[in-house]
Amino acid sequence: MRVLVTGGSGRLGRSVVATLTERGHHVLSVDTAPSPDPDVEGIVADLLDETARDEVFTRARPEAVVHLAGIAVPFTHPDLDTLSVNTRLAWAVLSGAVTHGAHSAVAASSPTVYGYNTPSWRPRYLPLDEDHPVEPWHAYGLSKAVIEETVRALARTTDDCVLSCVRPGYVVAPEEWAGAVTQQGHTMAERLADPALAATSLFNYVDARDAAELFALVAENPDKVTGGQVFNAVAPDPLATGPIDTLLPRHHPATADAAPALADGRSAFSAERARTVLNWNPTRTWRDQMTDRAATDRR
Ligand SMILES: NC(=O)c1ccc[n+]([C@@H]2O[C@H](COP(=O)([O-])OP(=O)(O)OC[C@H]3O[C@@H](n4cnc5c(N)ncnc54)[C@H](O)[C@@H]3O)[C@@H](O)[C@H]2O)c1
Repeated sequence: MRVLVTGGSGRLGRSVVATLTERGHHVLSVDTAPSPDPDVEGIVADLLDETARDEVFTRARPEAVVHLAGIAVPFTHPDLDTLSVNTRLAWAVLSGAVTHGAHSAVAASSPTVYGYNTPSWRPRYLPLDEDHPVEPWHAYGLSKAVIEETVRALARTTDDCVLSCVRPGYVVAPEEWAGAVTQQGHTMAERLADPALAATSLFNYVDARDAAELFALVAENPDKVTGGQVFNAVAPDPLATGPIDTLLPRHHPATADAAPALADGRSAFSAERARTVLNWNPTRTWRDQMTDRAATDRR
């Protein structure tokens, strides 16, 4: 299958391109940055440029589109840029997928749409599944909520292209398990050692290769996916050395009523839908992936 991956040079994109290629697909990556891998077929282009975008779609003739390009970290850019870039990119790329005849198009959303990290945020229940209300409060989370709404809007316009979203948890690239500094400026060993760091994402995480596999499954199985559907993509356990039923309320007091449901060691997020619909089984956990010496004694 011909697959166009936007943002293919990024941390998650590199794993998505590699995974799709390993699964036998013909992958074209498009990004404003060149791919670090010389074997990847890539186009350097700004997808907000209409002419460049049309050229990309004409060359790629994608049967599936995986849309990852955008501003990927909250508070790294001015709010208006984050909102504008992410929402315009999503409309441009996903409507392009529809008009150029792709059979499926999946966009990266984010668990930040749930709206945690405000004093008043209170989960209705835990773990958070895709039916839980979304209450974004910062520009990045709002841009992702708009992307999810964009997917639903476009899904209403076509029966030929199945549009959906994946919400990856805190993505950990392979080199980050070995000690490379993450987008947040700390290492995974430091994130594990200081619960205040992982608490900002309610201790969620996902290995980039596992997340990539879910994007691949969505692209490969439009018959199993409903238009507008959203999938959480998180590891089954939290990024913490023990259950988070006591840790979570310490950092987010309003979770106290719901947190006992996590006493068995499960994540605060449910990926049950991806498992049920697409048989996605993320296998990589921090306990077996972390090779950074600074963390190995915490397993
Ligand atoms: N990293 C995470 O923990 C995480 C979690 C949830 C969701 N996501 C989402 O997953 C996606 C990928 O995240 P990532 O961590 O790989 O980010 P990243 O910053 O490493 O990759 C994003 C890529 O998009 C490219 N890009 C940005 N604007 C572009 C444009 N106008 N045209 C073409 N390319 C453009 C960038 O050059 C970059 O390579 C993003 O949409 C992000 O919001 C990431």
